[in-house]
Amino acid sequence: MSVTGSDIKRVTTHTLQAMKERGEKIAMLTAYDFSMARILDEAGIDVLLVGDSASNVMAGHETTLPITLDQMIYHAQSVVRAVHRAMVVVDMPFGTYQANSEIALKSAIRIMKEAGAHAVKLEGGAEVEESIRRILMAGIPVMGHLGLTPQSIYKFGTYTVRAREEAEAQKLRDDARLLDELGCFALVLEKIPAQLAKEVSENIDIPTIGIGAGQHTDGQVLVTHDMLGITKGFHPRFLRRYLELFDLIQTATRQYIQDVKERRFPNESEQY
Ligand code: KIV
Repeated sequence: MSVTGSDIKRVTTHTLQAMKERGEKIAMLTAYDFSMARILDEAGIDVLLVGDSASNVMAGHETTLPITLDQMIYHAQSVVRAVHRAMVVVDMPFGTYQANSEIALKSAIRIMKEAGAHAVKLEGGAEVEESIRRILMAGIPVMGHLGLTPQSIYKFGTYTVRAREEAEAQKLRDDARLLDELGCFALVLEKIPAQLAKEVSENIDIPTIGIGAGQHTDGQVLVTHDMLGITKGFHPRFLRRYLELFDLIQTATRQYIQDVKERRFPNESEQY
């Protein structure tokens, strides 16, 4: 991807690598629909992640496990339609890459072909090595995801910080190196100690993008609905809320209801 029809230069895997090399931080947010993606893209976000967190945020499920490949493709199509500059990365949902590398490749091809995505993201290290290899061989860029991997929530049993123990920290270091060597273009590090994230970021060539992984990763990602305060009752330490949209939208809605009930909306200038 180079220059598009307009003068806007698209963010690519090469852009992100160059950003790491010159020490410029990468800003990534989630998006699941056209309207939000348009706002975030025009604001200058570098990467939009069509995260499987759509399962929680958009569909109201307790975990990311239920969302399907068809549903992810629907969300991704809407985001891709809105975007002129950002790189659009799409999560491979649970069950679409773990069984074997052939299924993984077919799933990744559907995401690229039907959604027009620019890359896929999947969770795990050595366990999914063959799937990553095969997807990369087809020319599809892959973003890795280590640390807290929400698709494995029933194995972990909790959403607390990962890799505090040395054995798990060492596996994470090894997996990060493996993903780098395989040819992934970037790596999400979720909810791990800041010192470990720093060490990993300094020891691999590709950019790391942290969520709850401290200030030393090459970029940061948040779930947009958390960052804007649309979600309710979720206050982990790593989350900075830039707005309280839940309250603002509710106040506006109450005002609208009152205006309708009390015949203040529509007024004469708001009718034909
Ligand atoms: O699905 C998602 O939103 C994610 C981010 C938390 C990185 O994977």
